[in-house]
Amino acid sequence: MAGLHPVVVITGATGAIGSATAAVLVRRGARVLLLARPSDRLSGLVRTLGGEEKRVSSIPVDLSSLASVRSAAREIGRTGAHVDALLNVAATFSREYRRTKEGFEVMLATNHLGPFLLTNLLRDRLVGRGRVITVTAPSSTRLDIDQLIDKKRFRALETFGATKAANVLFTLELARRAKRWEVRANACHPGLVRSELMREAWAPIRVITRLLSRSPERAAEDLADLAISPAHEGTTGWFFKGTKRIDPPKSTLDQQAQSVLWKRTAELVDLENAGF
Ligand SMILES: NC(=O)c1ccc[n+]([C@@H]2O[C@H](COP(=O)([O-])OP(=O)(O)OC[C@H]3O[C@@H](n4cnc5c(N)ncnc54)[C@H](OP(=O)(O)O)[C@@H]3O)[C@@H](O)[C@H]2O)c1
Repeated sequence: MAGLHPVVVITGATGAIGSATAAVLVRRGARVLLLARPSDRLSGLVRTLGGEEKRVSSIPVDLSSLASVRSAAREIGRTGAHVDALLNVAATFSREYRRTKEGFEVMLATNHLGPFLLTNLLRDRLVGRGRVITVTAPSSTRLDIDQLIDKKRFRALETFGATKAANVLFTLELARRAKRWEVRANACHPGLVRSELMREAWAPIRVITRLLSRSPERAAEDLADLAISPAHEGTTGWFFKGTKRIDPPKSTLDQQAQSVLWKRTAELVDLENAGF
């Protein structure tokens, strides 16, 4: 792979799994581009992880905004670098219905539309052995993307589950489409990891997940392997738990559903002829 210092773009870089993964990647020699909403935490990470070699930089992005995703993709394009791996890590859970300025429900926008658009806009940076790893969960929630936009039909956990199922459907379709650009696409379930992701969830969910979850370091090592290890250079269309291949939920294997989701998402984000 990718020379001495593979270039890895990582979203959700301020979160539990994202920041731990960035740290492992830097330790293993990668140049890491942190994509996140601007914050003291983000600038702190650039300083502390970057060290003297300054192999870490950041680009601001709000994944719930398609305009912001387009602007971040342009900025990455301006670096001129080949992206050896894109890690779609960011996600959000919202207990209430929230609508973005562009008219989408916020979990749908952040967890699916934003990563879908970002990945497609980075096609020409990834071309030739780039790897896309989307962090998700083994969700079999039924998915009707137009229903997810509708406030009257909003149910927080179902919407969140549907966006995680969308990540798997997206990955499997991407793996097929991206072959002609020699780009690999895989999804990864990190296991239960201690984080603030479900901070808005109901107390019993928070208590159970906290009790069962582990620190993010193991997940970070696994994701770094999938991103830069030569062992996974040609791997595509797989669903991992950690670094072990597992079966994706049955409902996500339906190629018709993958293709319908892809086409509808492309319309919603105005992808036109760009992308995979
Ligand atoms: N934790 C688990 O047990 C678990 C299990 C299965 C799958 N996962 C998946 O693992 C991934 C990482 O989760 P985590 O547990 O590390 O959660 P986390 O600590 O809450 O991290 C989430 C990250 O997403 C970012 N984010 C949220 N909304 C954003 C937006 N609009 N624009 C840009 N970035 C945004 C957050 O940035 P801010 O700092 O700006 O909020 C944060 O960096 C998610 O995809 C999640 O579904 C987690």
